[in-house]
Amino acid sequence: MARSRDSQLAVARTLEALLATREIVITCGSGGVGKTTTAAALAAMAAAHTGGKVLVLTVDPAKRLANALGLEQFGNIETSVPAELFEAAGVEARGELWAAMLDTKQSWDELVKRHARDQQTREQILANPLYQNVTGKFVQSHDYIAMERLYEIHTSGRYDLIVVDTPPTRNALDFLEAPERMADFFSSRLLRWLIAPYRSRMLTAMSKPFYSVADRILGSQFLQDIAEFFVLFQSMYDGFVQRARAVERLLEDHRTTFVVVSTLEAAPVREADFFIKALDRKGFHLGAVVLNKVLPDYFLDEGVTQSARLLNADAAKVAAQLPPVVAKVDGIEAPPGREQENLERVLREVGESFLNYRVVATREAEQQAELAAVTDVVATAPFFDRDIYDVDGLLRLGDTIWR
Ligand SMILES: Nc1ncnc2c1ncn2[C@@H]1O[C@H](COP(=O)(O)OP(=O)(O)OP(=O)(O)O)[C@@H](O)[C@H]1O
Ligand SMILES: [Mg+2]
Repeated sequence: MARSRDSQLAVARTLEALLATREIVITCGSGGVGKTTTAAALAAMAAAHTGGKVLVLTVDPAKRLANALGLEQFGNIETSVPAELFEAAGVEARGELWAAMLDTKQSWDELVKRHARDQQTREQILANPLYQNVTGKFVQSHDYIAMERLYEIHTSGRYDLIVVDTPPTRNALDFLEAPERMADFFSSRLLRWLIAPYRSRMLTAMSKPFYSVADRILGSQFLQDIAEFFVLFQSMYDGFVQRARAVERLLEDHRTTFVVVSTLEAAPVREADFFIKALDRKGFHLGAVVLNKVLPDYFLDEGVTQSARLLNADAAKVAAQLPPVVAKVDGIEAPPGREQENLERVLREVGESFLNYRVVATREAEQQAELAAVTDVVATAPFFDRDIYDVDGLLRLGDTIWR
């Protein structure tokens, strides 16, 4: 279904075009590949060049990036990134960049507040010790709440574009399936069976043995907390399930697209590949693949490689043609007598190291070609010599993938 609606949109050939036609962009991929950085860079580029009001919804950004975006103490609050930061980077932004972080606990509290049928239920849930403990650790709670929060912000209509960063999931599918599983969980028979005795305040013959053993092992207070928690949560069931289904529909919607981020190392590529297939199976739109920290093209250049081969094979000859080594570098005196030999060794190693990088770059190029076959947009960002932690850095990275 998503496919046919999707075909109504012109095929985007660049990230710029892709983002101009979508309302939600979700970056996903293996751990540490640059999801948060890419999400922030894309949002900054859209705010700078396309215009409108753009929000980047981040998960656990590196501290320096969070600071740069003004996210330090704000938690769930959406905060405006000052236009001066764009000006300092030499760009006059056409639109506005906003940023928010995902605070799992706070988001769950807000969800309960919205869905609880009355004041008393709401307070009971929020005060339940298990709830307090479980919201952080609940299976899928983080994945689900990210989607839920996205839904809430999107529905509010406050932004023209929302770029969503995703948490490092153990399994990429967890994230996509979180709404579905959440709905299934709350409507599951197991759950109903577990809480039934507490609902009726009467143990059934079937569950009695289970409860008496569980009581001895876990303590009855613990079991009661669990049961109360689920009974209370069940009272929110309808709202919850409807909501989870709505979140799922939003993920399939033609206004939403996914950007898979990966480096070209073997493991992240495997995961990216797996993720791309999963998106396809679920009918979600794969908008682009961003390959991050990619080696520069010159490693594949024949002329440059020939120079490296020469250095490696004939270091002595090259060293002989160089002017005499300066005896003192950075204030350090070189021990006399072996300058020529030392120089030779360094040149040989440099040549060899280049050739090793070339092997990696060749493999990267092959993997890149394979990934290019599955999507209309493949963008590559180089490995920058410093971390990316401010608007200037985001725009520099953004420039390499935007057009
Ligand atoms: N192209 C790049 N060049 C240099 N450094 C980069 C590049 N892209 C990202 N980084 C740096 O790599 C680190 C990891 O990036 P980031 O936090 O975006 O990854 P992530 O995929 O969100 O990680 P996680 O899975 O832990 O959430 C950061 O310190 C970031 O500044
Ligand atoms: Mg991250």
